[in-house]
Amino acid sequence: MAGISDEDIQKVRDANDVVAVIGERVPVKQKGRDFWCCCPLHQEKTPSFKIDPSTQLWHCFGCGEGGDVFSFIMKTEDMTFPEAVRRLAERAHIDIVEAGGRGSVPASRKARLKDICARTAEFYHTQLMRGRGAEADAARSYLASRGFGGKVPGKWCLGFAPGRGALVRHLSSLGFKADEMVAANVALDGRGALRDRFYNRVMFPIFDVSGDCIAFGGRVIGTGEPKYLNSQETPLFHKSQVLYGLDHAKAAMAATGVAIVVEGYTDVIALHEAGIENAVATLGTALTMRHIRVLSRHASKRIVYLFDGDAAGQRAADRALAFIDKSMTPEAGRSQVDLVAVTLPDNLDPAEFVQARGSDALRELVDDAKPLLEYGIDRRLASHNLDSAEGRARALDDCLAVLAPIKESILAKDYAVRLAGRLRLRENDVLEALAAKEPPRFQGRDDEEAAAAPPPRAKRALSRAERNRLRFEREFLSLAAQHPLVALAHADTLAQIQWHEEVHRLLADSILATLAENPAAAGVDIVTRATLVTPHAPRVLTGGLQREGAEPEAVGAYLAEELALGDAEEAIGTLTAQLAGGVAPEEAELLHAAIATLQMDVASRRVAHRAVQHS
Ligand code: UTP
Ligand code: MN
Repeated sequence: MAGISDEDIQKVRDANDVVAVIGERVPVKQKGRDFWCCCPLHQEKTPSFKIDPSTQLWHCFGCGEGGDVFSFIMKTEDMTFPEAVRRLAERAHIDIVEAGGRGSVPASRKARLKDICARTAEFYHTQLMRGRGAEADAARSYLASRGFGGKVPGKWCLGFAPGRGALVRHLSSLGFKADEMVAANVALDGRGALRDRFYNRVMFPIFDVSGDCIAFGGRVIGTGEPKYLNSQETPLFHKSQVLYGLDHAKAAMAATGVAIVVEGYTDVIALHEAGIENAVATLGTALTMRHIRVLSRHASKRIVYLFDGDAAGQRAADRALAFIDKSMTPEAGRSQVDLVAVTLPDNLDPAEFVQARGSDALRELVDDAKPLLEYGIDRRLASHNLDSAEGRARALDDCLAVLAPIKESILAKDYAVRLAGRLRLRENDVLEALAAKEPPRFQGRDDEEAAAAPPPRAKRALSRAERNRLRFEREFLSLAAQHPLVALAHADTLAQIQWHEEVHRLLADSILATLAENPAAAGVDIVTRATLVTPHAPRVLTGGLQREGAEPEAVGAYLAEELALGDAEEAIGTLTAQLAGGVAPEEAELLHAAIATLQMDVASRRVAHRAVQHS
């Protein structure tokens, strides 16, 4: 697994009690032998999130998610598996050794790089506050001209990079090595000589969500190219998932449920200073799906894009529209955070807007933001001449491209009807054109995301009996996963049952394979292994509504019999259908006899089975 050994994974797992890890995020309460809390993955007022200390597994009966301590970190921190292992290794102060491959940085190395960033931010800040010379003066007057005086440089740890090796000398005196400075991307290795990366720039340190400095943005003083020089990707810094200002903004996001996304460092600072403290910025990139997921964990209601009124801002708006997909339709269920957008008027950027017109005007603008879909359609309509038939046809085509990815949803149909009105076309023609429109190639989402999407739901509505059957299968599988002794006792059932869902069969096979290899395997091992077979494993295997006090052995026996009876009844049905379909007389006799035997067997077992159920 990306170079982390199984032993290290096990060590990290053993050192991180799932109840303690979850307890650090949300208050947990013990009830019986389990712990319960409100689910950190969806909004809820009454706890439906169960943590079982004996199996070290968790499950939310509200949203259906579940897994072990690693999947908890993956889900709540939006991390990959190796990232989650590293995070928990840090928590437990375990040094893990990673062999080869990208991202193979031991926790201690990362801590060292963070140290460099922190010392660098400090150094630049001191240079800004106390540095001598015309260049430092120019940096100070630039910030003052932007209205960033008083406490602002301290709060945001703004700085000045003199360059000319000043930083390298400082870090060397603190005992840091050349390769570490290069890895943290604060120095460059040029023909054997180590140089400062940032030279005569105003510095904006970039902090992660916990407030650790991980990178820098440096603005040229006056004019010059590039206007902003940013840290490159480092082991600490992944541009596509970091949001500038999130450490300061997260409290206001939680309090208001709203996140405001702007384009620049200076926009974030200006908004916060104007009292709008839920603003963050992407780092010169478009908002990615990862950003959206990070934000939706802090802001439960709305994410507002505030696009600059200039051409660059409008290009950013177009890129954002690439994120319209099925997950945003009402049919996707699960209350999603609303994505809304608004463009600033008069070519202004957010910093200029609040400074010129005040924070109330900005709040009004934010409140008037439109759903991203409506915003996108309006933008496209505005770019065509709707007075000519040709212009209207092109506008239609353009707008339908926005709707195509979600064309099956009522939302798209609703917009299509409105579009017909705006373009003076017949509703049916527009709906037909929408149906014929091919959605553009998959754009915003990544593969990892596609793998995590729920399995396609069968279209047919399930009968009650079928729903019950599927529920029994899930209960049995989760019991078997969490109580390996039960799985061993009913290995034959696991192997022979006619599973009604393909994924259930895969899970049963995986449980058996894990136990065949190691009969002493624990529940977590079974779940971890099954996750390799299907990413939905934790959801199913950590479910199970086992009652307090019920013996797992007894529940296992009951469920195994229930499933076996179901299979027998189905077999009777199949044979009866064969008989009804017409067969040769001698065969009919055999079928009759077989059906009768099966029926007698099933009838007596059902009686005993019901007695167990009611005992
Ligand atoms: P802007 O050019 O709008 O800068 O770029 P700004 O924030 O308004 O800055 P001031 O007010 O002129 O000082 C917006 C963001 O785009 C990224 C930076 O993150 C910047 O904050 N950017 C811009 C770069 O990464 N590189 C550049 O050369 C320019
Ligand atoms: Mn700007």
